Amino acid sequence: MADKNQSQYHPAEVNGYNRSDQESLQEVEEARRKKKMKWTIGIIAFVIFQVVQALFFILVIMKFKSPKFRIAEVDIQNLTAGTQASPSFDMTFHAPIRVKNTNWGPFKYGASTVNFTYEGAQVGQAIIPKSKANFKSTKKINVDVTVSSTSLSADLKSTLGNQLGSSVITLKSQGELNGKITVMFMFKKNKISQMNCTMAIDTSTKTVKSMSCN
Ligand SMILES: *[C@@H]1O[C@H](CO)[C@@H](O)[C@H](O)[C@H]1NC(C)=O
Ligand SMILES: *[C@@H]1O[C@H](CO)[C@@H](O)[C@H](O)[C@H]1NC(C)=O
Ligand SMILES: *[C@@H]1O[C@H](CO)[C@@H](O)[C@H](O)[C@H]1NC(C)=O
Repeated sequence: MADKNQSQYHPAEVNGYNRSDQESLQEVEEARRKKKMKWTIGIIAFVIFQVVQALFFILVIMKFKSPKFRIAEVDIQNLTAGTQASPSFDMTFHAPIRVKNTNWGPFKYGASTVNFTYEGAQVGQAIIPKSKANFKSTKKINVDVTVSSTSLSADLKSTLGNQLGSSVITLKSQGELNGKITVMFMFKKNKISQMNCTMAIDTSTKTVKSMSCN
């Protein structure tokens, strides 16, 4: 008798459901849980993707860097130098000017000049026409420059005399490009590129001894 009562007390029937009803309910709940999990994973993945994309955008694409403005290897065409007693120089050279743009968008700059100086005094100039350096590329501007000591003051001429005694004269080139970088056709930023190069010229061999830009 007791056995029979126990067998009738079946847990599946406690709440009035039979076994198959409860199983299908469990399946439905399991499926719902899985679906919810899938959505959660999907949303998390989407958020991570967005964050990574935003970081890439901010750290790589939107990093506006000043393009490098410099002179590569100078090629002297013609050089006449005076002596310590009669100091002077006249020189013509090819100056390969470079605007290296590492940005993810073009750098458009206005017309400018590069000034060549001797001990701070201007001895020559190169004209840089308005143009642009494309997305991740180097704009090449090849100019011929003439520098001359004719306008130097008497003081600087005596300094030049001393330098000519050792057959080396040092010239500097300074310039500034004022431009705008545009990334993805809409993000714009103004940037200034500065040139500051120093070159030492050997007047006896008529060659460039050293050239450096910073
Ligand atoms: C070099 O300069 C001298 C003096 O200015 C000039 O007579 C000569 O024609 C020039 N040579 C070249 C190749 O430009
Ligand atoms: C170059 O010289 C011109 C004057 O001749 C001056 O206006 C300009 O500011 C100078 N540029 C630089 C970068 O020193
Ligand atoms: C150019 O570079 C020299 C060092 O080579 C530095 O002393 C000078 O201040 C720089 N000038 C400019 C205008 O940046």
